[in-house]
Amino acid sequence: MAKLITDEQLAEQKSYIMKLKEDNMQYAQRNGRPRLALTETYGCQQNENDTERIRGMLCEAGFEFTDNSHLADVVIYNTCAVRENAEQKVFGRLGILKHIKEERRDMIIGVCGCMVQQEHITEKIKSVHEHVDLVFGTHALYRMPQLLYKAMHEKNTIIDIEASDGAIAEDIPIMRDDTKKAWVSVMYGCNNFCSYCIVPYVRGRERSRTPEAVLTEVRELVRSGCSEIALLGQNVNSYGKDLDTDIDFSDLMRMVNDIEGVERIRFMTSHPKDLSDKLIQTIAECDKVCKQLHLPFQAGSDKILEQMNRKYTKEEYLAKIDKVKKAIPDISLSTDVIVGFPTETNEDFEETLDVLRKAEFDNIFSFIYSRREGTPAAKLDFVLTDEEIHANFNKLLEVQNEISKRKNEAYVGRIERVLVDGTSKNDEAVLSGRCDSSKIVNFKGDKSLIGQYIDVRITEAHTWSLNGELVK
Ligand code: SAH
Ligand code: SF4
Ligand code: F3S
Repeated sequence: MAKLITDEQLAEQKSYIMKLKEDNMQYAQRNGRPRLALTETYGCQQNENDTERIRGMLCEAGFEFTDNSHLADVVIYNTCAVRENAEQKVFGRLGILKHIKEERRDMIIGVCGCMVQQEHITEKIKSVHEHVDLVFGTHALYRMPQLLYKAMHEKNTIIDIEASDGAIAEDIPIMRDDTKKAWVSVMYGCNNFCSYCIVPYVRGRERSRTPEAVLTEVRELVRSGCSEIALLGQNVNSYGKDLDTDIDFSDLMRMVNDIEGVERIRFMTSHPKDLSDKLIQTIAECDKVCKQLHLPFQAGSDKILEQMNRKYTKEEYLAKIDKVKKAIPDISLSTDVIVGFPTETNEDFEETLDVLRKAEFDNIFSFIYSRREGTPAAKLDFVLTDEEIHANFNKLLEVQNEISKRKNEAYVGRIERVLVDGTSKNDEAVLSGRCDSSKIVNFKGDKSLIGQYIDVRITEAHTWSLNGELVK
């Protein structure tokens, strides 16, 4: 069982939330406006979910929110370490904030999350970005109230990146972005140590929340009007292995499926090596579980898969995909792919294309390999040049775009149930939402439909989205 952060530890943080609140009330009286906070998220859904906790704590501490860094009294960047470009973006933003802070000396700048859980990054922030007041890693999230209070009252940079095997903090306040859809973390950390990946180093070992904690959170969400639940973990198929119950992820999903008021259940991510027949059966049988599976394969060549420490072969992966398609014929499939792993040759890359052609994913998330300090793959020499890797990446997109378009075309004429998210990015007069398989559907309709499930007839397919019309 994972260690829980104790009630005393949580109460201590609560007391700092109260202190911050008191401070903020006095500030508002003196200045005729509340203190404003700005948060930005650079990482995955788990990172987003952490930001919702950060905003929850800030909100309870009496902060209001802004999107404008020129107005913010406190800025917190929740960072990602998975690829170099995510880190560079943060350093770029910190450079801009430096100028803003020159005009507004009492502004507090905080950097938290996966990126700063790496010592060399925190060292760089200390030496190059002295205007940063607060640095805290993923394990210190629940201690943010205390750390922020210190940062606001002390001159030196407050740093808390203590490494930990990981404990679980329940009941941290939360402020969610969406009222209809919510992320619910079922576990934290990762034990897989894929050779290219930094996540296990910055997130610690796998630890599962208890079924009671997960179900209580889902019930509360439903009570507040939420109906789409996305269960989150780096590898949800390992859920429960560290608990002293027999409940695994499939069992947990069935329990969520039984909660009245839940309309849709999504989940991510599954590691192919642990995708069990039981889970496939569960997706097939549970009416609320969306017929959608994200199953990252990363690379097609057995040599590369072995060097990546993925623990499956191309044939085993494709066999699992076949099994899923047989059990759930209308399944929508997505995956993650890395192009340009150091030892990958053009022949290896052909195997990746072969997987795309055989598996026929609805969509893919593709990445150019990024060297991560401290991981085993970082020691390997590159076989291909940057140009060759980019050419392969473009080829990958070309092959997939054709498949995505074809998969979407099969939706034309179908009636899909869509949860309306808001107006379309490109056209205010058009509504946008997602169907069961998570594809984006755009259609004309009244704004009053936002937040509702409605039937839409699909009329047109694009590579990335579908167009449709309301079913009267
Ligand atoms: N736990 C999830 C995903 C974690 S990170 C899983 O295993 O599926 C999300 C994706 O980022 C990974 O699936 C992988 O495709 C990509 N990724 C991870 N490390 C990377 C690196 N060093 N360079 C490029 N892409 C990487
Ligand atoms: Fe990274 Fe592999 Fe863990 Fe996913 S399973 S988070 S890719 S180490
Ligand atoms: Fe997520 Fe990036 Fe951390 S992918 S777990 S925010 S390294």
